Amino acid sequence: MNFLSFIFPILTFFTGVFVGYRIYKREEKIKNKRVWNRFERRNLMRTINSLVSAIDFKDHLTKKHSDNVKQFACAVAEVMGFSQADIEMLKDACQLHDLGKIGVHDYILTKPDKLNEEEWKEVKLHSLAGAVILKPFHFLDKVVKLIRQHHERYDGQGYPDGIKEGNISLGARIMAVADSFDAMTNKRPYRNALSQEEAIEELKKNSGTQFDPKVVEAFLKLLKIKPELFKDSGEDVHESAP
Ligand SMILES: [Fe+2]
Repeated sequence: MNFLSFIFPILTFFTGVFVGYRIYKREEKIKNKRVWNRFERRNLMRTINSLVSAIDFKDHLTKKHSDNVKQFACAVAEVMGFSQADIEMLKDACQLHDLGKIGVHDYILTKPDKLNEEEWKEVKLHSLAGAVILKPFHFLDKVVKLIRQHHERYDGQGYPDGIKEGNISLGARIMAVADSFDAMTNKRPYRNALSQEEAIEELKKNSGTQFDPKVVEAFLKLLKIKPELFKDSGEDVHESAP
């Protein structure tokens, strides 16, 4: 037996042990990172939700509105074949979509009359403001995009960026329909709530201009097959500016 045939199996053995150990440590690190990320995400979401509660104090119906939008939008997303992960993302976006209202003056949010041009300008900043507030939370990047786009219109006449059709994320196009339906079927200080039938007519009338026709179609289908989902819409409550 020469030296090489003696040392080679030993070197192979120790190299194998070393490589195995490194792989084990790396896997453990990745696993710990995943657990930590989940933990961190959950805690950050709690912090962010407390911000939503803060707006709720300013405008106590925002949370109710956000809950309704979340319920309608996620049901539509399911009908349209979203994955579970995308539905979860949409859920967060709906819950936080009006977070930017924290920067809108209280007197505007609760104004009992129609808003003037200046006041509307301030309200219209809320989708951008919400996105700016949440931008530092990188794990919410896709959610932030949906929040920024939830008042964009299919025909490009929305805000803040005036983007149109497929340039708007499908999730945001769904949010726009769910948001408008809930806003229309709830009373505002300066107008009565529309009935569900009237709100449906509005959706149909604005399909292809304000709203994505495919989303309106899915929404109307859902109203037919799961009317119980919409039993809370149209309650005698006011929702402030969109
Ligand atoms: Fe909004």
